[in-house]
Amino acid sequence: MNKPQLDIDQLMSELHELAAISECPEPPPTVTRVVFTETDLKARKYLNSLYEAAGLSVRVDAIGNTFARWEGSERDAPAVGTGSHCDAIPHAGMYDGTVGVLGGLEAIRSLQRTGFQPRRSLEVVMFTSEEPTRFGVGCSGSRTMSGAYSPDDLLQLTDDSGDNYDKVRTAAGFKGDLSSVKLPEDNYSAFVELHIEQGPELEAKQLDIGVVTAIAAPATAEFIITGEGGHAGGVLMPVRHDAMCAAAEMIQAIESLAIENSSPDIVATVGCVDIHPGAINSIPSRVTFTLDLRDIDGPNRDAVLTAIESQISKIAQHRGVTFSSRILNADPPATSDERIVAAASNAVKSLGHSSQKMISRAYHDSLFMARIAPMGMIFIPCRGGVSHRGDEFSTPEQIAAGVETLALTMAELAQ
Ligand code: GLV
Ligand code: MN
Ligand code: MN
Ligand code: MN
Repeated sequence: MNKPQLDIDQLMSELHELAAISECPEPPPTVTRVVFTETDLKARKYLNSLYEAAGLSVRVDAIGNTFARWEGSERDAPAVGTGSHCDAIPHAGMYDGTVGVLGGLEAIRSLQRTGFQPRRSLEVVMFTSEEPTRFGVGCSGSRTMSGAYSPDDLLQLTDDSGDNYDKVRTAAGFKGDLSSVKLPEDNYSAFVELHIEQGPELEAKQLDIGVVTAIAAPATAEFIITGEGGHAGGVLMPVRHDAMCAAAEMIQAIESLAIENSSPDIVATVGCVDIHPGAINSIPSRVTFTLDLRDIDGPNRDAVLTAIESQISKIAQHRGVTFSSRILNADPPATSDERIVAAASNAVKSLGHSSQKMISRAYHDSLFMARIAPMGMIFIPCRGGVSHRGDEFSTPEQIAAGVETLALTMAELAQ
């Protein structure tokens, strides 16, 4: 197999062009791109023009998952898939997801330039809504594609304006039968996603590539704490049931339970807090907060979740407030396929890059693709391990190493 012929300048300029399609009040490289907005549609249009220029055939499913295909000589054989997402959380960086979509496209183009003829078709997928920003749950595209979500599950999702998924996707121009989104189990012979690490390990060890062996199990939940509101001047401290003070104690308990747990991989984050009525001179009567909890060990994650609920219940009792909770998702971890790990390791070796095997602490669409295809992931370093921030950064050289590794991995899997 010849070395893939990358055009890293073209890829970098495409990454920057995509980053400029943003609804963030801050300028690029800080990016906000929420699913099914005008911005998302503009980004999709831009990607489609690139797919077309590369001679790929494009299929868009009923919820906007987009498949761009380079036909192999055996058109009916299960394809080799790659890809990631282009939606971006508020004030995100410009590399999360996009490196896997535009890098997946460049991997295909770099093989085309060598005159390589794949036996299996190669396909780059742009998944709809990997991020939970709009509908509260991540990976709605790949969840549905893999059958982890039924059309009914999708219809339960609503955004902040109360519009449900179906209404929003239809308004964005994605029509068609939701039950057609699920892919057959033999659609892909392999699925391999390129992504920035979103953690500090590769940079700290000065390694070019991480070959992912497993993806940690994510869970999210929402808690609503109800106390008693009142006048900030009139109600004396001994008789208060301040929902925010209760929530603060609960959030500290969550942090302690994660710190004290024996798993080194458990992480807990409270990323959203909403205070009602939210006035400077009013005692909070209701607080809603979210929990994001992850571990590579699924049962341990669940045990910590149970401990968190019981601690919250105790705190609610002694503070005289009530609470309700709702699990938004609790997904099992996924394991990479050995054949894909071997193909990626071979690619790294033949390109002369340094690498390690590692787990993914962030979740990705590959978590769900693993349910319907042998799955693997390739990580590249990002500066300081920073992600989900505007200063997220990987060098063109790091990106090039990832894309050529992906290209060679796909080439091996396609034969
Ligand atoms: C997805 O972006 C995640 O939070 O891992
Ligand atoms: Mn992300
Ligand atoms: Mn991502
Ligand atoms: Mn992610």
